[in-house]
Amino acid sequence: MPIAVTGDDFRLDTATTSYWLRRTPFGHLEHLYYGPRLPAGDAEPVALKRTAVLGASVDYDPGDPLYSLDTLPLEWSGQGYGDYRFSPVEARMPDGVFASDFTYVGHEVVAGCVPIDTLPSAYDGDQTLRVTLADEATGVELDLYWTVFEAADVVTRRAVLRNAGSDRLTLRRLLSGMVDLPNRDLELHTFDGGWIKEAHRHVRPLTYGTHLNGSTTGASSNRHNPGFLLAESTATQDDGWVFGVNLIYSGNHLGVVELSNHDLARVGVGIHPDRFEWVLEPGEAFETPEMVLTVSDRGLNGASHHFHDFVGRHVVRGPWRDRERPVLLNNWEAHFFSFTESTLLDLAKRAKAIGVELFVLDDGWFGARDSDSAGLGDYEVNRRKLPGGLDRFATRLKRLGLDFGLWFEPEMVNEDSDLFREHPDWAVRTPGRRTTRGRNQLVLDLCNPKVQDHIIESVGRVLDSADITYVKWDMNRHVSDAYSPTLTHQGEFHHRYVRGLYRVLREIFEPRPHILLESCSSGGNRFDLGMLCFSPQIWASDDTDPVERLKIQEGLSYLYPPSTWAAHVSGAPHQQTLRATPLSTRFNVAAFGVLGYELDLKYLGRLELKELREQVDFYRRHRRTLQFGRFSRVRVPKGNKVQWQVVARDGASAVTGYFQTLAQASEGFDRLRVIGLAPTERYRIETRPQYLPLRRFGELVKHILPVELNPDGLVMRTAGKVRNVPDDVERYDASGAMLASGVLLHNQFVGSHYNEQTRLLGDFGSNLYVVELIDE
Ligand code: GLA
Repeated sequence: MPIAVTGDDFRLDTATTSYWLRRTPFGHLEHLYYGPRLPAGDAEPVALKRTAVLGASVDYDPGDPLYSLDTLPLEWSGQGYGDYRFSPVEARMPDGVFASDFTYVGHEVVAGCVPIDTLPSAYDGDQTLRVTLADEATGVELDLYWTVFEAADVVTRRAVLRNAGSDRLTLRRLLSGMVDLPNRDLELHTFDGGWIKEAHRHVRPLTYGTHLNGSTTGASSNRHNPGFLLAESTATQDDGWVFGVNLIYSGNHLGVVELSNHDLARVGVGIHPDRFEWVLEPGEAFETPEMVLTVSDRGLNGASHHFHDFVGRHVVRGPWRDRERPVLLNNWEAHFFSFTESTLLDLAKRAKAIGVELFVLDDGWFGARDSDSAGLGDYEVNRRKLPGGLDRFATRLKRLGLDFGLWFEPEMVNEDSDLFREHPDWAVRTPGRRTTRGRNQLVLDLCNPKVQDHIIESVGRVLDSADITYVKWDMNRHVSDAYSPTLTHQGEFHHRYVRGLYRVLREIFEPRPHILLESCSSGGNRFDLGMLCFSPQIWASDDTDPVERLKIQEGLSYLYPPSTWAAHVSGAPHQQTLRATPLSTRFNVAAFGVLGYELDLKYLGRLELKELREQVDFYRRHRRTLQFGRFSRVRVPKGNKVQWQVVARDGASAVTGYFQTLAQASEGFDRLRVIGLAPTERYRIETRPQYLPLRRFGELVKHILPVELNPDGLVMRTAGKVRNVPDDVERYDASGAMLASGVLLHNQFVGSHYNEQTRLLGDFGSNLYVVELIDE
């Protein structure tokens, strides 16, 4: 059994990790160890020693001068008893005092998870430890939970605070959990950004003091993802200790890492305390969201693998959990708001011809939605654009052999909408204060059960009105002016909003399991484990430039598996950066994720369409591996390269992508490593065939054509429509050990020579390589 209780010790073991704690003589919970798995045995060697009284410390009890809360590694700490580090709890207790001291009352070990009543949580855990603590002075109780997910190497934490006192308690902060980890020269890795630059990884040394990673935008936000890592400064992708933390929650969050002057790193995460206040009358309780913890001594990839397994087996749920996701075409970048049924069907036909399986109609299909300033909230089909309604459109798509998906933004409203005219009080505004807008819209008050009911009914009605198998659920602004007339205590607004959102998602999608939900928030503004409990995939970013996506998808890969990142091939120059990138690279990056297309296919020539057909075909053949295989980042010792790989779960095949950002003159050799295969098995590794357009060669075209032509002339332009150049293909048979060491690839283009064995990457070039076990 993964949880063992012996005397005062609680030992939680997963397949490769151990998390140990114990009860102190005064009833506090002391953290003993979190790291690679230890055999059972005396914990004393790994426990923090207290053999000297430290100057300036506050003694908890006159009987033991060595016992000071400030220097103990703890699993929970209150306030007011001499621990001056960041506390996970701040409350005006029933006696009116801002102090709390939670000590042991009892514990229980139960099978499986203990689901949270008011929030989504992880499922299929192995065992849960619940320790009940109480604040002796007031009787307020605190239940702490640790759930072990043995095979995924994850332990989750959460807290429930119960006002067992006889007067009101006001909660100002309650994190989901905290733990004091002895420092091992740790660095903090956070995933930050903004619109079109989400989840960029930032690394900083953990210096003395408090480091905060939070969001107060109402959503988990594109500014700081709730997930973060603490890695030994010497850790690499494959070696060294790495701790990972995340939170199953989609609202304001706060991650805290405080390095104390005695080298303990206090790590906590939970609901952001900013403008949070929750009143608990006697007998009432508050449940926090679930904190997720992992550790690995196999580097950053090791921690990511634990997270990927946890998300795939214990967070994402329902029939789409491990079902291959369809290749879609989304009409947004092709049309924005301007389309008719016939332009849509024309695009759909072209999409079908390249192998797309699902057509997604994005914004603009309803109400007076011809721009982003009107119509939001009115989910009645716009008959001018779709005269036969959604049903007829879906039938026509079906006839083409395509499934139908639809966009909604149900949490928002334009003032110029029937919904707002009818229910102005449903929009979030603070009476007597200025109203602020984002993208010309207001937020709907999801604290209000009537608003929740309306969304459940109006979206549900549309979903039942036609054959719809996919929904893109968008949310395009940060929350401001937070206020709900339905609340007595406005400090509850943000958390009630998130709970309202979860109710709405549950009630719409639970009865409609055939629908694949993709959530979105101006791209990745709400990419978190809470949303992943409802939507198996999330639109990672409005940025479809593959060079930018290298940073975004790589950032996400530290915390979430590829089956959760939606990634599209779009037109270039890119609508977000004006950068022009090769069509092959757009695919090679998007293939690591849930593939889609988002461009106007009528502007593509015959050769490009053929290339797209081959891309979709390739993706469909390798889809199970690309979506659900074992993803790793491969270290490349060159600043202008990125390499990713994904290995099929049976280990018999793999796909790896080698990406070059900016070209360098006369580069040395490139080494392509494929890690994690069986060392003595033999594999064939081969480049995915792809093409280079003739125009890519400019004046150099004379090297590859028998006659000299003006590179900008009519003949060349016409030739470019019917002829492109196959890119270099390499093929080797090699053992798993050789692949782990690395294949040295053909030369890159260096200006002095060109033949068909030259890798022509240039700026933003890339290749995919397929690895397959040789059946001997
Ligand atoms: C957001 C989304 C886009 C698109 C538009 C439609 O920006 O992120 O993908 O759906 O809204 O208005």
